[in-house]
Amino acid sequence: MSKAIYPGSFDPVTFGHLDIIKRSAEMFDEIIVGVLNNSAKNSLFEVEERKDMLIETTKGFDNVKVISFDGLLIDYMKDNNISVIVRGLRAVTDFEYELQIAQSNRKASKGNVDTVFLTTSIEYAYLSSSIVREYARYGTDVSDFVPDYVEERLKERFRK
Ligand code: PNS
Repeated sequence: MSKAIYPGSFDPVTFGHLDIIKRSAEMFDEIIVGVLNNSAKNSLFEVEERKDMLIETTKGFDNVKVISFDGLLIDYMKDNNISVIVRGLRAVTDFEYELQIAQSNRKASKGNVDTVFLTTSIEYAYLSSSIVREYARYGTDVSDFVPDYVEERLKERFRK
């Protein structure tokens, strides 16, 4: 059975992430969406909230599972018998960072882990969670960027 992990912060999940999830779920038997539980990073949503939004917005896919992980991605992968990472590439500006992480993960895992890149669909090339957070903070409509469920969670957060 082919299995891959799609890791990220997902703070919050956007249509760009969902596009990558949909396309990778067609390529692999199982996709594990891995939410990084990193308390050092100043995130808008708690990891359980980010997971909840992912579970809700991926419930149409029966081969997608959402988990969270602490520490190193390659350690989680080893413990769970996963050898492929999926990442989305939006633009050349993503490339240097992604190449460095992919090469580091391959080296540190002694060649047991490889990264597969999917190019983001052109309509989401500009999109990022930080842009969504910024617009939502000022009450701008983000319905082109995120599903309704996520938009509601953003509204709740900034109403407080
Ligand atoms: O959505 P992001 O923030 O670009 O995702 C980055 C992520 C979560 C894939 C990366 O930071 C990661 O894998 N972190 C886990 C810690 C780790 O394995 N670090 C070594 C490679 S940076």
